[in-house]
Order: sequence, then C-alpha cells, then structure tokens
Amino acid sequence: MSTSAKLWGGRFQKPTHELVDQLNASLPFDQRLAHHDILGSLAHVTMLARQGIVPLEDARAIAQGLRTILREIEEQRFTFRLTDEDIHLSVERRLRELIGPAAGRLHTARSRNDQVALDFRLWLRDTILDIAAGIVETARALLDVAEAHHDVVMPGYTHLQRAQPVLLAHHLHAYVTMLDRDLARLRELYGRVNRSPLGSGALAGVPYPIDRELVAALLAMDGILENSIDAVSDRDFALEFLAVLAILMAHLSRLAEELVLWSSSEFGFIEFDDAFATGSSIMPQKKNPDVAELLRGKSGRVFGHLIGLLAVVKGLPLAYNKDLQEDKEGVFDAADTVSLLLRVLPPMLRTMRIDRERMALAAEANFTLATDVADALVRAGVPFREAHEVVGRMVAYCLASGKTFADLDRDELERFHPQLAAIALPRTAWDAIRSREHPGGTGTQHVASALRVSRQRLDEASEWITRQRERVEQAFRRLLSEELP
Ligand code: ARG
Repeated sequence: MSTSAKLWGGRFQKPTHELVDQLNASLPFDQRLAHHDILGSLAHVTMLARQGIVPLEDARAIAQGLRTILREIEEQRFTFRLTDEDIHLSVERRLRELIGPAAGRLHTARSRNDQVALDFRLWLRDTILDIAAGIVETARALLDVAEAHHDVVMPGYTHLQRAQPVLLAHHLHAYVTMLDRDLARLRELYGRVNRSPLGSGALAGVPYPIDRELVAALLAMDGILENSIDAVSDRDFALEFLAVLAILMAHLSRLAEELVLWSSSEFGFIEFDDAFATGSSIMPQKKNPDVAELLRGKSGRVFGHLIGLLAVVKGLPLAYNKDLQEDKEGVFDAADTVSLLLRVLPPMLRTMRIDRERMALAAEANFTLATDVADALVRAGVPFREAHEVVGRMVAYCLASGKTFADLDRDELERFHPQLAAIALPRTAWDAIRSREHPGGTGTQHVASALRVSRQRLDEASEWITRQRERVEQAFRRLLSEELP
C-alpha cells in the first residue's frame, strides 16, 4: 500500500490533509447504506463468478466475508473509521482484513460511482415502502374518524369564512383522497427507483463480459438503467422522492393547520388527547397543539431538502462529480421526518375528541343556508342571478334587524320575492346536505360509499406494499444464504 494508506492511494506520494479527510468523508452519514451496500456486493460477486470474471473460490471467500461483515454491523461490532472515507471503502477494507488479497477482486467491473447509485436506490426502495405504509395508516385513521362521526355536520369554509354545511366525514375524506394520490405517486416512483445502475462502472461501462440483468434479478429489481452515463450521474429518483414528500407535507400541513384552528377556543371543534398535546411552562391553563404545529412546521425542512438537492444537481457536468455525495443527508432527513410524523398522526387522529354540538351550531350559523335558499328559488323557476340578488338582500335585512332566515314571517318573505313564501325553504344543515347526493358531493349516502371505495383502495395499496416487501426479502434471504455464488 502507498504512504496514504488509501485504497486508491497508488498514484499519491503524500497522505491527504486531515481536514480534507474530514471534508471528503461521507461515512458519518452513508454508513446507513451498509446493509444495502453489502447486498449489492453479494449480487455483484455472484455475477462475477457466474460469468467467470473472478475465480469461484475467491468469489465464495468474498461472499462469506461480506456476510460476516453484515453480521458485525448488525451486532454493532463493526468499527467505522473516518479515514475509510465512505461505506464502500469501509466494507472493502474490512473484507481485506478478513479474507486477505482475494478481497481485491470484489471491485472488478465496478466503480464506486455505480455502486453508490445502486446502494441509494436499494435503500430508497425500502424507504418508499415504509413511507407508503405510513400514508396508508394515516389515511385509515382519517377514515376511522370519518366513519365514527358519519352523522356530524360542520361548516365548510371558503376564505376561512363559513360557507356551506358539509359532513365532517366529507371534509376528512378530502384529505384521504390527497393521501391516495401521494400513494399513487410513490408507487409509480418505486418502479423508476427499482432499476440497477450496476455495470455502468465509472461512467462508460466496463470491459468484462458482465450480465447486468442477472445482478438486477438477484436484487429483485425491475431491470437495468439503459445508459451508463445517466446511471451514475442523475439523481432524479431522489429529487422525485423529495418532491413527492414535499407535496405530501403540503397536504399534511394543511390538515395540521385546520386541527390547530379547530382546537382553539375560538372554534372549539376538537380537543386533542392529553398524550398528544403539551403544556406551557408559564401559563398553567394552556393545552397546546404542538404535534399539529410540528407537523405544519416540519414541512419547511422537507421543502428545503428538495430545493437543496435541485441546487446540487443543477448545472453539474456529466457524469459523476463529488457534489453528488451531497445527495444523501437531505433525503435521509426528509424520510426520517416524514416517517416519524406518519407514525404520530394516526393515534393522534384516532384519540381526538370531536364536539359535534359546536360543529352543528356553527354549521347553521352565519347564513350558511343562503346558497340553498337561492337554489330553492331557482328550482321554482327564478334565474340564478336574480335568486342570488334576492337572498343577498335578505341577508342584509337580517343582519340589520338581528334576525335569522327562520325568523322571517310570510309578509317579510313575500316582500323579497313573491315565490319565497310559497316554496319549501331549506331550514337545517341537513336539508343542504341531503340535496347534494351526487358523486363528489357531501350527501350522506355518497360520502358513505366514497369512504368504502377509499378503504378498498387502501387495502389494495397495503397488499401491494406487502408483495413488494416479500419479493425484496426473498431475494435478500437468498443472497445471504450459503447458496450463492
Ligand atoms: N461517497 C461517494 C458518494 O457518496 C461514493 C462515490 C465516490 N466516487 C468517487 N469517484 N469518488 O457519492
């Protein structure tokens, strides 16, 4: 070995400056890829042996050594050294300690450039499934709350002003449909992530009779990336993941904001369980909705990671550049942040108390039936614009005289429009809700069936997650058994 004691040290006369080691090292964060790095190497060395690129005996020694290292890591007996630079060199250094010079054959027909792209994809593939499972659970919690409160009415809002009565279940289902699209985006992304870059080498491919499809199949991937330069230099899969998480967080932070508002004394619609609220260190009476606030606030860092990685990738010449090492921490943090939130949300939603009386009172206050009165006139033949004008004058009159629509007598009504006294006017929030029984509307029957359809879709998504996990686990079990290479 050269003076620098680096695995790549051959052409260097001096060791690297210690600060350069510190700057250059990704080991403190990419050790998280250890498991996937070793499985990728097991698939690679199996292929090398099958293709006669390395002797079978050496390949077997390498595979045994890799399995030993994985055990050491799992049992926390593995020493990570900053001078190893990154997880790839760390594993290779240990392999050499364990099996000697044969270890040097593992990196045949491979570069860290295609290796790291593979590791990151394998890790992300698992992470997508974990986050997808968290979304399913969160959506299920919303459905549970909606179903348990299927007969609760609340005011729907526009401009945060009471607008028209809706079912609480309809309002909550709106979030379920958002989460359903987030899930769909993750599922589609999964197929793009699950492709193998191995065989791309540093950038141009490798001068060996490799079998890239075999490596992909051993790792239960859906095929290979078709261009070696693209495979080692693009990170759009990570960008897409961050974009999907950013949209998910935008959805969740809207939910969070509503829960914060609803739990205020001004709204008084909900109360969080004590286990999901916190107190004030100075004001003894306070019960603060910190969980919902953090849900809202943590969206900021997830959005930031998306912009951060876009800035790293933008303008980079092809192919690999060390800038790309900056791709991981933001993605790890975004995944950790979202995955924790998705575990806290379901129990928080399921345990919150809902004040149905307050919601029902608010649903009928502030003339939320005005549109429905206008619609009743329209059904009696009055053009909508005219009906709108008539009801607008009714509202102004009521506001000035401190009355509600229900207080208006026959004479008063007739003064606004001759038809008004003759037709059945909507009187309660339920009248408004019953009249919207169509797909997408807040009618009780439609909402009940929409909840059912969503639940079926979540069951289907959950089965998909299980199938993908089983497929990956089966492939990994095989790579870890003595059976290969
Ligand atoms: N630690 C590196 C990364 O995360 C691995 C690839 C290094 N490749 C290289 N040519 N130095 O990007």
